[in-house]
Order: sequence, then C-alpha cells, then structure tokens
Amino acid sequence: MLDAKELAKALQGAGKFTDLLEQFLLSSYGECADLRYQRARYASALARCLNAFPDLKKLGIGRAPGRVNLIGEHTDYNGLPVLPMAIERDTVVLFSPRKDRRVNLVNTSFYFPPRSFDISRRIRPYAYGNWGNYAKAAAQALQEVSHGQLCGMDACVMGDVPVGSGLSSSSSLVVAIAVALAATNDIYVHPVDFAELLGRGESSYTGTEDGGMDHAVSLLASPGKPLKIDFFPLNVYEVPFPQDYSFVVCNSLIAAEKSGAVRNAYNRRVIECRLGVALLREILKDVIGTERDLTYLGGLRHISPRKLSSAIDSLPDAALSLRQVAKLAGIPVSRIRGSALRLGNGETLTEPREGFKIKQRVRHVLTEGRRVEQAVSAIERGDMKSFGRLLNESHESCATDYEVSTPELDALVEMCREEGALGARLTGAGFGGCAISLVHDRDAADLMSAVIARYYHDYLPRERKESPISIISLEDAIFACKPCGGAATLM
Ligand code: GLA
Repeated sequence: MLDAKELAKALQGAGKFTDLLEQFLLSSYGECADLRYQRARYASALARCLNAFPDLKKLGIGRAPGRVNLIGEHTDYNGLPVLPMAIERDTVVLFSPRKDRRVNLVNTSFYFPPRSFDISRRIRPYAYGNWGNYAKAAAQALQEVSHGQLCGMDACVMGDVPVGSGLSSSSSLVVAIAVALAATNDIYVHPVDFAELLGRGESSYTGTEDGGMDHAVSLLASPGKPLKIDFFPLNVYEVPFPQDYSFVVCNSLIAAEKSGAVRNAYNRRVIECRLGVALLREILKDVIGTERDLTYLGGLRHISPRKLSSAIDSLPDAALSLRQVAKLAGIPVSRIRGSALRLGNGETLTEPREGFKIKQRVRHVLTEGRRVEQAVSAIERGDMKSFGRLLNESHESCATDYEVSTPELDALVEMCREEGALGARLTGAGFGGCAISLVHDRDAADLMSAVIARYYHDYLPRERKESPISIISLEDAIFACKPCGGAATLM
C-alpha cells in the first residue's frame, strides 16, 4: 500500500513514488495524454478521500476506463464480435482495506451521496438507478470467487465518464471497484474470467440483459489498440490503430440511462433476437436442410452468405405476437414465454403492443457481425476510407433495422459527416447518448468547432427548447480520443 503523504508528494512530482506514479499514468492513459491534468485530478480525489477518512494512512489506487464502441452494436449478447476501445475517461478509486466486511464509499461528485453496506452472502440491491448498486454488483461477483470471507474497504470514487452517454460509465465503476476489492483481498482472477464474472454481476443488479463487451474492454485494453472481442467463449484480439487518426465523441445530451427508461427498450431488443433464434431454428430445417443446434444468432456466422440471406428472407416481414412466434417455431406459448422472455433478474418482459420486430432485428445483427470483421481488415490494411464507410453503414442499420437511434443522434451523425468525418455513427446501446466520428488528427479541431456551432449552439436549443449544455460543460460533451489502456491498480 502507498503511504498517503508520499502519494500526495508524488502527485506534485516529488518524493520516492514519482517514477512509479508516472509509469502507472503512462500505461493507463498512453503517451498522448495530459498527465499534468491527471495528476491534478488524482490530487483532488486524494484530498476528498482524506477528508472523508481522516485516519487513513495507507492506500491503493484502482482505475477502469469507459469505452467507445467503434463498430459491432448489439452483437455481443448475440455471440457476434464487437470492436471497442478504452478511452481516457475513467473511474478512479482510492481505497484502503478494512478488516471487517464493511464497504464505505464517498464520491467526489455530490450527485452521488456516500454509500455504506456490508458484504454478506447475498448483498441486497438498492433500488434501480442507485449508484451504490454498481459497487454491490462488484462485491457480490468477487464474493463468488473468494474462498474466505471478503473484507471491505473505505474508498473514494471519482469518475469523468459522462453518465448516461453510452460510454459505459457504469461498467467502468463496477470494474474499478472490483479491481480495488480484489487488490484489498489479494484475490487474482484471470482478466477474461473477471470480465465474464463482472458482466453477469452487473446485469443482476441493474435488470438489463447486457452482453459482455463493456467489462471486457475496460479490463483488457492496451494503449493504442482497439480490441476485437468474440464471445462464447470470450476471446480478444488487439487491432493496432494508426496513430494519426482519432475519434471525436459528441454527446447528443439526450440521456440514455440503462438503469432507467432505456432498460425495457434494450431488453426488448435482446428478446427479439432470442425469438429470432427460435424461428430460425425451425426455418433452417427447410431452408438449409439440416437441423442445427442454434443457441445464438452468432451460431449462424459460418453459414454461407447466400443461405443466410435466404434464411432471413424466410422470416415474416410483419411484427409478430408471442402467439404467432410460438406457432411458427412449433413451441408452446408458455414454454417460449418462460424461456425467451425471461430476464436474468427473474422478471418476464411484457409483450410489446406493436409486436416483436424479429426480421429487421436479425438482419441488423447478422450484417453488423460481418461489418466488424470487415472493419478489422480495413484497419489492418490502413484503409480508413473503407472503415469510415462501414461506420456509416452500421449507423443506418442501427437506425432503421434496430431502431436505437434518435433524431438528435441522426442529426449529429449527419453534421459530423458534412464537417469532414470519414465515417460517423452512434455508439453504445443507443436511445440517446453519443455519436462518434472517425477523423484524421489534422481535421479534429475544425470538426469539433463546426459541431459546437451547429449542434450545441443551434440545433439543440432550437429543437429541444432548453439547452442542456448549461448543466454539462462543452469539454464533457465533445472531445477527441484515442485508444487507452485497461484497468490497473497501484499499491
Ligand atoms: C450496452 C451493453 C453492451 C452492448 C451495447 C450495444 O452498452 O452494455 O453489452 O450490448 O449496449 O452494443
């Protein structure tokens, strides 16, 4: 553990921990980052931490980044690949181990009041939306792999991943708390297993049927390299990214909090894909002539494109009721309700009045999986034009077939393309949140000033009447980023 006074000195650039701290910051944020800014940020968290826990003498640091998903949207829970990168925006936890099972948390932002809980065999969640749930999810997950009793910690949390923006602020919090607790208890979990464990853990506390992308990239990323991630089993492949290109992140400022209103819309997409699997299992018998044991849409990735499109074509165009799906799939309604509609937290999804839109969801997922593979080859060839085109195609598919875009995201994407982006699309779950643009570094500043003028100073106040830019700073709404490193601890 680090001596708190020595850490304070190192953050000023003096004392015996200076080099250690420098190395930690470089491997976390990469060569291009503004380390002076990071030191000042950590120093303010340390001050808050010592203020909340005045007796604290020794402490450790844990951090975990948010992410931008470059391409591969809503493919992870379908067993198809994604291509995210970790970003500089992260959650930092300054922690000091306790001998008992108590977890005491303060946050540098007063939007998030202090939370305290005991680590018990089954940690009862707070109400949905409470930030303490993410810490509980991490503790519960670690509890499953700890052989003894998990001890708690006093900790100060500081995050700069904008909340509800589709940049995975919640998973970065879960991962940061988890690496801190693992360090506190001297537990080692292989990062791949850790990612899976935390993914399941977070879902059970938020009621969203998330895939495994967010925790995996937050734990496993290295600076300069987006990760192609495959699922079931989880596998990662680093894709070196050209140094002279960046992604500009533009927040639409329409909040997309998965623990809130977006939960149902997100879960519905997951269920529509499951129903797609049930239908295709039946249809494939005739179209392909073999009966396949199909569990995820990703199970179809090895079928020839021709057979695949004929399978998609055989799905009914119209939205279907559960009864119609059951009939076509040859399964009793009660069985399909009990399996496909069942959520991880034990609830059952309510059938949407307009029916399940299965064909278009399946089409998005299967074409998006293919686009990820094509994007990886384009980046590896250095063909950023083709990569940009794939980003644009991905957005269209997310907007029309998967219906997760919003008028604001469409407007932003359009503006970014007009202002010099090689490609632009929404990132993350959608329903609000951010758009990203691929740009050459020399064009980033011009694109950002044009979008500030057109979206934040014109479109948004005009279309939404109130301008949310007064409650979030422009630097948090629009910024450029490059691939950063994954979670780390320093003790
Ligand atoms: C959210 C989920 C991810 C993934 C994306 C959509 O961020 O947490 O697992 O499904 O949406 O690609």
